[in-house]
Amino acid sequence: MGLEEAPSTVLVLGSGWDALLEGVELTHRVEFEAIPGFVRSTVPGHEGALKVVKARGGRLLVQDGRLHCYEGLTPLEASFPVWVYGALGVEMLVLLSAAGGLNPAYLPGDLMIITDHISLLAPNPLMGVPEEGGRSRFVPGQGTYPIFLQEGINGLLPEGTRVERGVYAWVTGPSYETVAEAHLLRMLGADAVGMSTVPEAITARYLGIGVAALACISNSLLPPSRIPPSHDDVIDVVRRTARGLEGFIDGLCSAGTAPM
Ligand code: HPA
Repeated sequence: MGLEEAPSTVLVLGSGWDALLEGVELTHRVEFEAIPGFVRSTVPGHEGALKVVKARGGRLLVQDGRLHCYEGLTPLEASFPVWVYGALGVEMLVLLSAAGGLNPAYLPGDLMIITDHISLLAPNPLMGVPEEGGRSRFVPGQGTYPIFLQEGINGLLPEGTRVERGVYAWVTGPSYETVAEAHLLRMLGADAVGMSTVPEAITARYLGIGVAALACISNSLLPPSRIPPSHDDVIDVVRRTARGLEGFIDGLCSAGTAPM
C-alpha cells in the first residue's frame, strides 16, 4: 500500500472495542513491532496491530491496541502513533475507549460522545514538543471535539443505542479511582473518567487532525450503582456493547475522506 493510498480516517480501539472487528474483512495487517516507534501494548484486550478494513467502497485504518501512560509511557510516547498518522496525512481520528461512569444517570453499557475533557491532573502530551513547522504548542483546548464530528459519530450509531454526551476526565491509572476521587471528579464537572483518549486528542489538535471520541461506560463509580471495577468486567461490558453497534464500521469506511 503506497502512501497515496493511506486511508484518511484512523479508528483507535480501546479496551474491549476489538469486538467491532469480528467478521470484518481486513486487507492489510502490520504488527506494532514492525513500525519504528510503536511499542506493543501490554494490556489484555489490546492486540497490537495496525489493520486496514475495506467496506462499502471505503477504507479505514484501525489501530487495534492502544498505548497508555499506565504502561510506563509518557503522554508523548503514548500518543506517538498519532504523530505517524499526522505524517501520513490522516484527516480524522476516531478514539474509542472504556470509561467509569460518574454521572448518576449513566448505566454500564451506555455510550458517551465526548464533548470536552478535563486533563488537569496529569502531564500534557505536548510538553517538550518544539515550536516548529508553523505549529504552536499552545493549542486551544476549545474545539478539540468539533460538534460536527460529534454529530457525525452519533449518526453512525444504530437506532435505539443509549448514547449520552459528556465530559471525560483523564487520569493516568492504572489504579481505579477511590470513592473520594470519583466524588472530586464529579464535582469538577466530569461525567466519566478514563485512562486514555486525551493525550491522543491533544496531539491530534496540535497536528490539525479532527477528533471524534466515544467512550463506553463500563462501570459506575458513584451511587446508585457503585461496584468496584475490574479490567475483565470492563472488557466484557465494552465487547457486549460493541457487538450491538451494527453498521458502525461500515459507516466509518464509507465516510471516506469527507467529514462525516
Ligand atoms: N476509571 C478509569 N478508567 C476506566 C474506568 C474507571 O472506572 N473504567 C474503565 N476505564
